[in-house]
Amino acid sequence: MSVFKDAGHLFRFAGLFVLAFIIFLVVRHYVVPPSFGQYGHYRGVAIGEIAARPVKFAGHQACETCHTDVLDMKSKGKHAHVNCEACHGPLAKHADDPSSVTPAKLDTAVLCARCHTASAAKPKVFPQVDPADHSNGVPCETCHQPHSPAIDAAAPAKPAAGGAK
Ligand code: HEC
Ligand code: HEC
Ligand code: HEC
Ligand code: HEC
Repeated sequence: MSVFKDAGHLFRFAGLFVLAFIIFLVVRHYVVPPSFGQYGHYRGVAIGEIAARPVKFAGHQACETCHTDVLDMKSKGKHAHVNCEACHGPLAKHADDPSSVTPAKLDTAVLCARCHTASAAKPKVFPQVDPADHSNGVPCETCHQPHSPAIDAAAPAKPAAGGAK
């Protein structure tokens, strides 16, 4: 009675596993980047690579140091908490050196509609309109000052035919 009488094939099989494991370790040594695992389950040098990317957004504080007139108007209006670059786009280069980059003109038909187009998914309290019906193709800034968009009830501005919704 010998349990291992016909065990030869098992040893060959085990040997194959050991060989495969050694090949795995060799391949792994060459394909895993050196800094992997330095801090966690990612490449340690990735932190430096990401930090080295150019900054694109200046942040509203930067804009406000120069454009104080816009800040004055905006901080009193309904867009007080909408940040400059949410509408004007990333402008770090302009903030660093205003003469090097002139901010692009904005198309309010696209810009305002992006946030204010009515949708059932938006909270009811958020001001929303059907742009085509509401403005009849008249540019939004004809009636709304972009930096302080609420229309004073006393102001003469009247919605175009079709009416404000
Ligand atoms: C260092 C001062 C400075 C900073 C910071 C700055 N700007 Fe300006 N900005 C200027 C100057 C100067 C002009 C040109 C003014 C002019 O020609 O009337 C200008 C022009 C503009 C214009 C109008 C361009 C046009 O068509 O008339 C916009 C929009 C603008 N800036 C937005 C921003 C935003 C948004 C930020 C923040 C990301 C910002 N600026 C940061 C100085 C600055
Ligand atoms: C809700 C969107 C929105 C926000 C937020 C916003 N802007 Fe504007 N801004 C506009 C639009 C629209 C115009 C007019 C069209 C154009 O000039 O491209 C404009 C025009 C300007 C102009 C040139 C003419 C002017 O009115 O003085 C400057 C400068 C400017 N914005 C700076 C700023 C700064 C600085 C901030 C943040 C404090 C800011 N904007 C926030 C939409 C916005
Ligand atoms: C990035 C999103 C965003 C963009 C773009 C934007 N708005 Fe707004 N708007 C807001 C937010 C947020 C409020 C404040 C909502 C509140 O107070 O509940 C607001 C408020 C308003 C209001 C005030 C409504 C009221 O309660 O009286 C008007 C009008 C308005 N926006 C028009 C515009 C116009 C016109 C443009 C284009 C120049 C524009 N908005 C672009 C986010 C945006
Ligand atoms: C012809 C003038 C005119 C034009 C153009 C215009 N609006 Fe208005 N809008 C008004 C008036 C007036 C009101 C206030 C009506 C009211 O209180 O019901 C208003 C109200 C709003 C409100 C607030 C709605 C609410 O429920 O409180 C938003 C948001 C708005 N407009 C966005 C826009 C956008 C976006 C555009 C461009 C697509 C635009 N408007 C073009 C006149 C205009």
